[in-house]
Amino acid sequence: MKEKYLAQRIQGIEPSGIRKIFDRVPQAKNPINLTMGEPDFDVPDRIKQAARNAMDQGYNKYTPTQGIPPLRQAIAEHLRERGFPFEEILVTAGVSGGLVLSTLSLVNPGDEVLIPDPYFVMYKYMIRLAGGKPVFLDTYPDFKLKPEVLEKAITPRTKFLILNYPNNPTGAVLSASEMDDIAEIVRKHNIFVVSDEIYDHMIYDNQDHESISTRDVPTLILGGFSKTFGMTGWRLGYAAGPAWLVRQMTIMQQYSFTSANSVAQYATLEAFSCDMSGEMADLAKRRDFIFAGLCELGFEPSKPGGALYIFAPVPEGETGDAFVERCIAKELFVIPGGAFSQQDTHFRLSFAASTESLTRALEVLEKLVK
Ligand SMILES: Cc1ncc(COP(=O)(O)O)c(C=O)c1O
Repeated sequence: MKEKYLAQRIQGIEPSGIRKIFDRVPQAKNPINLTMGEPDFDVPDRIKQAARNAMDQGYNKYTPTQGIPPLRQAIAEHLRERGFPFEEILVTAGVSGGLVLSTLSLVNPGDEVLIPDPYFVMYKYMIRLAGGKPVFLDTYPDFKLKPEVLEKAITPRTKFLILNYPNNPTGAVLSASEMDDIAEIVRKHNIFVVSDEIYDHMIYDNQDHESISTRDVPTLILGGFSKTFGMTGWRLGYAAGPAWLVRQMTIMQQYSFTSANSVAQYATLEAFSCDMSGEMADLAKRRDFIFAGLCELGFEPSKPGGALYIFAPVPEGETGDAFVERCIAKELFVIPGGAFSQQDTHFRLSFAASTESLTRALEVLEKLVK
């Protein structure tokens, strides 16, 4: 029956490896849940109040497909300050919305899209849905894309490269000179870049990190508010880049999402003057705590420079899947590396959790490696 009705393009599209584990959490009595990629702090009060005001003032209808003008203006100023020479902005339904629209607008059947591995779960399936072929670029063990790996993978069918630094699931960032090396290869081979910068405010220790968008390379930036302001449920992001692409994505948005959430757009105007440095400093402390704990237990993770995650190798001889099953048996919920990668040798843990949860997690992990 289902073969008759379901479209061929969705065959082989599997449930997200994150959701598979997350959905098992309610079965545990006293779970330690380190699965989800979202901050544990709430939306700042000022933004919440602005959302209430927006509803009371009647901003409950469709907005222009491009997004409300003051929000586009605020995003434009933010990007200009960063030195990104974009031409157009589109407000999207989260970065996820921007990923759907950009992939549909860029990928022809048979096109190859380069994805540094490990990668965010959505990329490979979005590309396959559009008929493209994901080509994975191995970045183990430090999770930084190397210019020689990039150059070797480029073929006449290569359409674009997805960059995601700070990275989910590894927390890796690229320094200015490392980004220069990548930009040089991209320029030499004239490929396009989609840069998913959803974690652009989550960079720890004032690290040397830069975006490709300031390097004279044709780039679409996908940015968002979900992570920085704890508003993952509000579904708000943006796409900025060349007019030929963003205008086409806007047309696609007319026929899909229509517009991003109206109340969230009005409320997020407040976000541009919200200071989140306290929340970021607090996340950095928890990163330090879990990193030190994992090192002490002999896991040898690489230290995340940004984002909310640590991606650590599992004990030798074991797969990520098998190790995570052992964790879950002790009520610790983390994600096997295979959900984000062509290899299953690591596990991802989100450190946006209470110190108590992280302490309990380390206690479980200690028992598992003893
Ligand atoms: C790298 C990356 N891109 C995009 C998203 C989706 O973001 P949004 O909530 O804005 O749709 C996530 C969420 O986990 C992510 O980690």
